[in-house]
Amino acid sequence: MISPGTKSKSQDLTPLIELVQDEMQMVEDWLGTNLIDDNPFVGELLKQIFQAGGKRLRPLIVLLSGRATGKDNEIGRLHIILAVLTELIHTASLVHDDVIDSSDLRRGKETINKKWNERVAVLMGDLLFAQASICLARLMNPPVVGIYGQVLGDLCAGEIKQMRHQFNIDADWDTYIQKSIGKTASLFSAGSHSAAILNGQDNDTVLALKSYGLNLGICFQIVDDMLDITGDFDSKNKAGGVLKPVGGDLRNGVLTAPVLYALAQGGKDSERLRKLIEERLVVEDAGNQEGLSIISRSCAIEKTAELAQKYADDACRDISILPDSPYKDGLCALTEFIMSRAKSN
Ligand code: IPE
Ligand code: IPE
Ligand code: MG
Repeated sequence: MISPGTKSKSQDLTPLIELVQDEMQMVEDWLGTNLIDDNPFVGELLKQIFQAGGKRLRPLIVLLSGRATGKDNEIGRLHIILAVLTELIHTASLVHDDVIDSSDLRRGKETINKKWNERVAVLMGDLLFAQASICLARLMNPPVVGIYGQVLGDLCAGEIKQMRHQFNIDADWDTYIQKSIGKTASLFSAGSHSAAILNGQDNDTVLALKSYGLNLGICFQIVDDMLDITGDFDSKNKAGGVLKPVGGDLRNGVLTAPVLYALAQGGKDSERLRKLIEERLVVEDAGNQEGLSIISRSCAIEKTAELAQKYADDACRDISILPDSPYKDGLCALTEFIMSRAKSN
């Protein structure tokens, strides 16, 4: 166990970001300047959103995938635009998700819905989606436009699926994995394989990157769901801390992997957890705390980590066909980064 606030080597993204340092800087500059709106209020909001931080995992996936599949590991301007638009879509989905989940905190700061109101948050999310569409058009690549169109549909379908199954004690694993693909893995996968498409790569390589992104995204969502139970809310430690309140999924009746495992374990604790969810007692602080401690003392956390590891291993296996390069290694190391977040709490 690593004590909270201490970063293990793999918990630090810096060495991976350094592999594509210049390009990541260009992405950051784009997010910081090109999006400024004429309206000073909107400009201020955009600044607040992007200066609040975020791990920038998705641009990193795009850039590493681009270099790992590029001729002589080179990438160009189109990959920067792809990385920017992938982060824009992600950020838009977070702004909307915080409205859906009634969240007050994101990236250690007040959410737009909390600081202003839900109407502003809905419109800001839409504005970010619009900015992403402009970037998409600049790529002049119809297959990539189609892939990202699918992602937008998947994001909505994933959120709707989650909403429809809130407090549904009979939700199953298939629903959970499909929801995770829709909400998270679809965008990871779009980023990784579109980067290969922009390089004019053959079908096998594109499909390998597609599967890599999908497995990495599912792994990421499972770990994120685990951190919602075990997380160390720390607004300073950006890599290890979750920077958002813990227990929110359970409070909202969202049945994630740890909950599914704890319910399946059987016995008195499982029965009690079922009741807490069915009767919506988890909405209140006392019920939420009780639910969290039942899950924490069951075998659910261990099993959830094993499940995430399986997807992490699959992701690394997917890209074994790529020629050796530091960027291919970087893509594989990303799975270690994600898994290290799970292990440090
Ligand atoms: C959070 O994603 C939402 C999920 C997909 C679970 P990140 O943890 O990548 O969010 P930021 O960009 O670093 O804030
Ligand atoms: C985040 O989902 C938004 C999307 C992945 C679209 P979650 O609700 O699972 O994650 P947090 O906890 O708000 O970051
Ligand atoms: Mg949420």
